[in-house]
Amino acid sequence: MTKPTSAPAWAALAHHKTQAEQLKMIDLFQQQPNRAAQFSACAAGITLDYSKNLVTEETIGKLMTLAQERGLNEKIHAMFSGQPINTTEKRQVLHTALRARNNHLPDQLREVNAVLDKMEKFVAAVHKGDWRGHTGKQITDVVNIGIGGSDLGPVMVTHALSPYHVDTLKVHFVSNVDASDLTETLKNLDPETTLFIVASKTFTTTETLTNARSARAWLLNTLKQEAAVARHFVAVSVNIEKVQAFGIDAENIFPMWDWVGGRYSLWSAIGLPIALACGMGNFRALLGGAADMDEHFTSAPLAENLPVILAMLGVWYTNFWQAETHAILPYDHYLNAFTKYIQQLDMESNGKQAYLDGGYLAHASGPIIWGEPGTNGQHSFHQLLHQGTRLVPVDFIVSLKSHNPLGDHHSQLFANCISQSRALMLGKNEAQAQSEFEAMGYSSDEAKALAHHKVMPGNRPSNTLLMEQLTPQTLGALIALYEHKVFVQSVIWGINAFDQWGVELGKQLCNDIHPALVGDKVIEVDGSTAALMTRFKQAQG
Ligand code: F6P
Repeated sequence: MTKPTSAPAWAALAHHKTQAEQLKMIDLFQQQPNRAAQFSACAAGITLDYSKNLVTEETIGKLMTLAQERGLNEKIHAMFSGQPINTTEKRQVLHTALRARNNHLPDQLREVNAVLDKMEKFVAAVHKGDWRGHTGKQITDVVNIGIGGSDLGPVMVTHALSPYHVDTLKVHFVSNVDASDLTETLKNLDPETTLFIVASKTFTTTETLTNARSARAWLLNTLKQEAAVARHFVAVSVNIEKVQAFGIDAENIFPMWDWVGGRYSLWSAIGLPIALACGMGNFRALLGGAADMDEHFTSAPLAENLPVILAMLGVWYTNFWQAETHAILPYDHYLNAFTKYIQQLDMESNGKQAYLDGGYLAHASGPIIWGEPGTNGQHSFHQLLHQGTRLVPVDFIVSLKSHNPLGDHHSQLFANCISQSRALMLGKNEAQAQSEFEAMGYSSDEAKALAHHKVMPGNRPSNTLLMEQLTPQTLGALIALYEHKVFVQSVIWGINAFDQWGVELGKQLCNDIHPALVGDKVIEVDGSTAALMTRFKQAQG
């Protein structure tokens, strides 16, 4: 496949950008009374309003042509049909099979359904109290030990679905090898009523295994008998041998498969903490919402396809407007871990510099993803969004209905959300700024001198993603929407969204440094690293 920059539509977009620089969004709204409807699309319970972008019909047409020229339809088919598109790891990419309704991959679906049934029985047994701790007490707390994809997805969804939690069980998460994480989590827990899930696709991740060993020691410190492990530890992994070597019963292993990438794995048994927190019915509803988005993604024309639209707008700003970051701002307290989750999904997938078919990228790839829920961010980094020198495209995510209707909280939240996207678009000119200063009592000379401090350039782009309410279904659809957006961008850029070789070097170096830090082994390192190691050793006495 040729480089994206050689696609005719790439050159056309580069030329079109010079004209698009003249666009004023607010004028476009005046010229096209229908603009909001024209640049909106809806699927799987999510409405995407992308009318507040620096685009015209012509822009969207050219972006969709680029998608076609990059063979997007064929690539979508290749992923869903199980072709080994993760070529650097020689793997299929089939997280969509974890939530598939049709039976086009019978082998995978049989295995998926068997694991879902196993999860269902286990969740019911824990909820009903049929699964008890070693001393016969009912399980009250679950601690998921995992990191990266074996943590971020389950954490995000479990928090997001708080209104759906069963009230007999609390689910906690430990990820960091920093002992403070585990210690603070276990501080108020009772070993007799605590169940651990060790979640690791590979079962080789040092942080997870270190935490799991310490958790086992904590358990056995009270329960004394090794047999207790069987009632208090279950695992989710591809690596059955390693799980058993750790001492977890074969019975207590929930399998997953190589064809599920870590950051795409919350739909597998990695989602067990979600199912324990909310019940299997809600977990299945989450899968259903994602399946709705999959159906839309695979069947809707490109120009009406939500993941494709989001992705191509991202390409527009990243490659033609040189935007370096992308802010994701959910106006929903329950989505407080959403941006962090998308950070891994997007940055571990598309933070790449190598073309799939050889050579290094001649253009930018995935943006830096950042953000916080609104309205909190408004009193912090929104200053930069409005007046900073950088272009930061924004996704606002908001629901029409709150799970906690209280006074006018929700109308205030919603008003703030749509006011921010409007403010980004409108901006404020010098004359307006000057008269505001005058109204504040400044002399006209002072107001004139200060006006430029209040000027906001405006014309800054944003998308609004609207849901009726944050439910398991809409959340599933929302996550799948971003998964597919990331995939589409990887196709445009010609990179592999499903490997993560960049995280390896740090792990390799740590494997050398750690033994030298805790023992007498001498290793050759640079002066800075050597000095830091010496300081650490001295501090440990
Ligand atoms: O270090 C990166 C990574 O491999 C992620 O891709 C993955 O989600 C995480 O580590 C955890 O891996 P595992 O589930 O195998 O412990």
